Amino acid sequence: MSHAFIVHGLKDVDSLLKVHEALRQAGVPVWYDAPGADTEESRATISEAIDKAFAMIVLVSASSVRSREAQGQIERAIARGTTIFPFRTDNARLSGVFKKELASSLTTGLMDEGGLEKLVSDVRRRYRRKCPVLSVMNLKGGVGKTTISSQVFGAWQATLGGRVLLIDLDPQYNLTQTFFDMEAADRSAISDKSVISLFERSRLHASDATSPAETWSSLSVEPFPAPAPEEIAHPLMEEGAPGGVLDLISGQFEISKYAFATDAAALAAIRDNFLRMIDHLRSAYDLIVFDTNPNATFLTKCALEASDRVIAPMHPDMYSLRGVKLLNLVLNEQIAEDVRPALSVLFNRVARNEQSSFEADARNGAHDQRAGFKLSEALLQHAVPKSGHLTVRAPEPDEAPWKSLVIHKGRGGGLKAVREALKASANEIHDLVAAP
Ligand SMILES: Nc1ncnc2c1ncn2[C@@H]1O[C@H](COP(=O)(O)OP(=O)(O)O)[C@@H](O)[C@H]1O
Ligand SMILES: [Mg+2]
Repeated sequence: MSHAFIVHGLKDVDSLLKVHEALRQAGVPVWYDAPGADTEESRATISEAIDKAFAMIVLVSASSVRSREAQGQIERAIARGTTIFPFRTDNARLSGVFKKELASSLTTGLMDEGGLEKLVSDVRRRYRRKCPVLSVMNLKGGVGKTTISSQVFGAWQATLGGRVLLIDLDPQYNLTQTFFDMEAADRSAISDKSVISLFERSRLHASDATSPAETWSSLSVEPFPAPAPEEIAHPLMEEGAPGGVLDLISGQFEISKYAFATDAAALAAIRDNFLRMIDHLRSAYDLIVFDTNPNATFLTKCALEASDRVIAPMHPDMYSLRGVKLLNLVLNEQIAEDVRPALSVLFNRVARNEQSSFEADARNGAHDQRAGFKLSEALLQHAVPKSGHLTVRAPEPDEAPWKSLVIHKGRGGGLKAVREALKASANEIHDLVAAP
């Protein structure tokens, strides 16, 4: 789990609590040591917490500037290249590492109008960059959403490393069935170890709770704590896997219940639960990917509001283009500007070794007008080829889930070219979204 580490002095309790509370409300996890604790053991814990942090916030005060512990913590973060956000909480004179390393980036403070809000927004942006959230979406079915979700992001995990979480937000749950047979998927859903537990309180959160999957006519708006990743997600890289972390929160049919619900207030509460859970999961992963359903529903809106970017797979043809056009309309008309994700379009199923005239035209801007936006600028340079290796097949019984990933397949004609294409797409998306 990752967090923002807060450096403070002994006398900074008031400002520490203010900063902590503001970040908590923004969904950013924080870590700081109990003021005054200084034992061998607590120093080891503190060092570990600095090493895991995605950023460090330094409360710059008369108390922290004089603190040897604070200086040591800052030096450790600098040595590790951790992003540091210095934040003034009084008018202390700077000295030591504060003066040498932090003075130049010390722009805001608690005394400034809007200072705390700016800090929270900067740290929150950094948190989101640490673990980008992507929606693989097109309002047309059959364009390769599920294939891209598993194969491109499976290739991402294999080549770029990091902890990757796939979430199956499509009530048809084809992504889940890429890795597990139907019975295994349904067994998991029966205990609510599945996607519905990101929306409503379930058996996963309390063994005596009614399963929200069984109550179609009612929505549970009760709050619930975020489950630990291992409680809700299935590891896909086990049993002789090449290594690393690729997890799946499995899907289920029952999340289609939200499309029938009419209680707007309850739906808003459930959407907030989902957004809160995704923000929480960012702490444990470096990338989160949603596979989504092709029709614009409540689930679509939830996915878009939680995402930093949409990856829209598209066949090089007019039907697919309509799906992307509609998706762009939904983005602009349904999603508030401040949370609206960016849109990238990925050509899928292109004939190998030759660019179709449709693809060439799209890249030259000839389809921009028909798309209703600058499609040519949203297009990713790399594309996913049409290949028999990418056609879906159900996993063999008892086959390890990761064996469904083309990137880990050993043999087969044309496999190398497909793997290279998957890697190239993964790399290109990584360069667009991930932290440097
Ligand atoms: N690049 C590709 N080459 C060959 N077949 C593909 C490719 N991408 C997808 N497919 C096949 O097309 C069908 C639809 O793909 P899928 O990923 O399920 O689409 P969606 O999730 O958008 O409905 C599946 O049978 C899949 O195996
Ligand atoms: Mg699908």
